[in-house]
Amino acid sequence: MRRFFVLVTLFVTLAAAGATNAGPAGRVNVLCSPNPAWCDAIRAEFPRATGIQLGFVRMSSGEALARMRAERGNPSFDVWFGGTGDPHMVAMEQGLTEAFKPGNWDELRPELREAVKGRYIPLYAGILGWAENKKLFREKNLPEPRTWTDMADPKHRGLLAMPNPNTSGTGYTMIATVVQIYGEDKGFALLKQIHRNMAQYTRSGADPGLLTGRGEVAAGVTFIHDAVDQILKGFPISYRAASDGTGYEIGGLSLVRGTPNRSQAIAFLEWSLTPEAQKLAAERGQSYQIPSNKNTPIPRVAPRFEDFKVIKYDFIKYGSADVRDRLVKRWTTEVFPLPK
Ligand code: G6P
Repeated sequence: MRRFFVLVTLFVTLAAAGATNAGPAGRVNVLCSPNPAWCDAIRAEFPRATGIQLGFVRMSSGEALARMRAERGNPSFDVWFGGTGDPHMVAMEQGLTEAFKPGNWDELRPELREAVKGRYIPLYAGILGWAENKKLFREKNLPEPRTWTDMADPKHRGLLAMPNPNTSGTGYTMIATVVQIYGEDKGFALLKQIHRNMAQYTRSGADPGLLTGRGEVAAGVTFIHDAVDQILKGFPISYRAASDGTGYEIGGLSLVRGTPNRSQAIAFLEWSLTPEAQKLAAERGQSYQIPSNKNTPIPRVAPRFEDFKVIKYDFIKYGSADVRDRLVKRWTTEVFPLPK
């Protein structure tokens, strides 16, 4: 009988050990801000690479920051993956994320690392512009806008879309770009005129490209790699960046402060910076930015910096909580409520 108990105990112990080895090594919860197809691809591939399960919630960059602020001290996410860099900077300044230098830091493009001064980890870079529906402009007998001032021309009344800078990092990049080119007061005067031409403000940054593709508007402000996505899906559009200068994003990656799943979170951060993981963006994620790891191949269709007049965007200033919150508030109170 005693021998029987010993055997049973041994069996249960071995079975438990086996279950531990074969089972998932924990889980990571990701706040995911790029194209949802990319979020789906990391959910499928990260567990295959590491045995760690991954759950995500997709939120636009501005919404994600609002969520992180609301969850201060009790975060439901371990990592924030993608989205424009400005809210990642604000999150770091406000102690919602922490500075973390991944093991593969030196493989990241130095110009991106320097531009964000280590406040977050660069994941990709993308150029701001707009999608345009040439057929619609032809039908209206109008030239396509080439500059931000053209966008403000009253002849484009009701023909444009842009993302709302409260919810969308793309929308904030647009207003911060106009302010950096024209100065704050002149920039806001321009944004007020542009507002009069808006048919729609969208919640996320990729949607204006979709509206342009469907012919609901003639031009939609978006990152031009998002317009590339619509073109590859067969929509009859092209893209352009303002010839008076355009801004860009350095998409962010951040470790959430105070997460109980810290080691899983770090495993995810380091995996997501490898060429194998970054290749998923273009291969399965419908995302055609410049990847931050210099060993990741740049997608053939990715818009290149040398082809556009890209401004020297001040990420430190326009990613500070003071400046960002003030500009978004000023836009929300002075521009958005104006009649069209
Ligand atoms: C798209 C782009 C990303 C960008 C993100 C910002 O997914 O492909 O490059 O970072 O939009 O999203 P948001 O909705 O905050 O403008």
